[in-house]
Amino acid sequence: MEIVIARDAAAVGELAADAIVAALGRRSEPVLGVATGSSPLTTYRALALRPIEWRTVAAFALDEYVGLPEEHPQSYHRVIDVEVTQRLGLDPGRVHVPNGNAGDLSGECERFERAIRDAGGVDVQILGIGSNGHIGFNEPASSFGSRTRIKTLTPRTRRDNARFFSSPEEVPVHCITQGLGTIMDARRVVLVATGDRKAAAVAAMVEGPVSARVPASILQHHRHATIVVDEAAAEQL
Ligand code: GLP
Repeated sequence: MEIVIARDAAAVGELAADAIVAALGRRSEPVLGVATGSSPLTTYRALALRPIEWRTVAAFALDEYVGLPEEHPQSYHRVIDVEVTQRLGLDPGRVHVPNGNAGDLSGECERFERAIRDAGGVDVQILGIGSNGHIGFNEPASSFGSRTRIKTLTPRTRRDNARFFSSPEEVPVHCITQGLGTIMDARRVVLVATGDRKAAAVAAMVEGPVSARVPASILQHHRHATIVVDEAAAEQL
């Protein structure tokens, strides 16, 4: 693991963008793995100013809520569209988000895995981290070999994400998420975290034992993982 400590969230975005552009630049039809949440927003802002042929880049989202209408402002379809597709100028036809309203959800998970494979795999995966150490929506106790599947959100994650909804009850209970095995297949991983709310999870990910209790700790075994954090998120390292 390469650990980079930056001064603040804006600097985290710039340094993460450097790592991502270096990885994408080497491919003719690059595949970017994209994350939602507030953490990668400064990264997307920095990426938008980089001279990449964004129309040629395919993108795969990590996860989506089950049962939230696509047009809901907090559906990951919407969030990815606004924060990533429109901001970077991606071709919407090349942007893939799991369909949390599919009639056959397990079939949708398999289809999504196949689509990643057919695109040649993910060149660089952007990640945030949950305060409980989750990546994507792989909550504690997720299997390290897991693939895209349906998961139940923990009360803590639903509480953390309630800030995006008008009431805590509105936060969906289920989601589709890429598995830890899927994420580990990405050729490069860039995880960003900011703020003291993430300090314990960052320390457990980087310095703790590799344990399913802290799903992000599996990244200690990734061949090319870069962790970019601000000083507040690094304070327990
Ligand atoms: C969400 C997403 C994750 C994200 C995490 C942290 O639930 N599924 O991909 O990394 O929680 O979110 P934030 O960056 O807003 O703290």
